Amino acid sequence: MRPVTAPLPCAVVTGACSGIGREIARRLAARGDLALVLVSENRERLEAVARELFTARGTQVHPIVCDLARPEAAREVHAAVDALGIAVEALIVNAGMFFFGEVADADPRKANVMLQLHVVTPSLLCTLFARDMRAQRRGRIMLTSSISAWRAFPGIAYYGSTKTYLRTFAAALRSELAPYGITVTTLAPGATDTGLYDPTVVDMERARRFGVMMDAGKVAEAGLRAMFTGKAECVPGPFNRAATVAMRLVPQRLIDLVRRRAPWLPVAG
Ligand SMILES: NC(=O)c1ccc[n+]([C@@H]2O[C@H](COP(=O)([O-])OP(=O)(O)OC[C@H]3O[C@@H](n4cnc5c(N)ncnc54)[C@H](OP(=O)(O)O)[C@@H]3O)[C@@H](O)[C@H]2O)c1
Repeated sequence: MRPVTAPLPCAVVTGACSGIGREIARRLAARGDLALVLVSENRERLEAVARELFTARGTQVHPIVCDLARPEAAREVHAAVDALGIAVEALIVNAGMFFFGEVADADPRKANVMLQLHVVTPSLLCTLFARDMRAQRRGRIMLTSSISAWRAFPGIAYYGSTKTYLRTFAAALRSELAPYGITVTTLAPGATDTGLYDPTVVDMERARRFGVMMDAGKVAEAGLRAMFTGKAECVPGPFNRAATVAMRLVPQRLIDLVRRRAPWLPVAG
């Protein structure tokens, strides 16, 4: 008779088909102690990541193709994971998008997508999966915010404010879940070299040349280390950590002045 082995618990990672999320998935696969549930909208890219991890590591990967900007997305993802019948050890809510532009200029449909993707779906995913984790009295949650959550930035109000929401939501959730042995971590990257920015608006080559963009693998590595050691917050990179300190000290009128006077800052995209 073959020995019966219990299925591995899983980590659910949203936004896993590219950038920071893909690097998180690669590093989780390298650990080898978790199955992966990877969620993104783009089927082709998601299946490519699933194939890569299975081929390289033998990782059991369950891809879930889902537009996380739809109101019912969190319930659908939770139901799909439930149907797999495996325990969820970690939830990493990372999917995101970005656009420049002032509030009064924003395309309302695009703004609504961002609010759903950064606020509604992450919150409801936490509600649904935290309930399961509370019942099993173990689990780890990580939410990807941004260093833009440290201040009010004109020109990226939608992005920065949704990331501020994620940061405070994660901090409150951390306190709520601590008595059950569940940790919640905020990952707050600075500028990172991924496909997040529209290359027709942000000169990625120049940003790379000036060393402004951090490597997505390093961001993922720092985030996972923080999550698995139960840290409250992770700002990867000394430059970004210094920036969060400086941001607390700079008067808002200086930020406003730079925004109005700096011709190099993108205005829309
Ligand atoms: N890059 C930076 O400078 C930076 C800085 C601070 C914070 N962050 C945050 O880091 C997180 C990851 O971004 P990234 O930099 O790695 O960018 P990215 O490479 O563009 O990755 C974004 C991920 O989110 C997924 N996604 C976007 N819209 C979705 C939707 N409607 N439904 C399902 N999935 C969706 C994308 O999948 P699809 O391709 O399938 O849509 C993709 O896998 C985001 O939350 C971002 O705000 C990034």
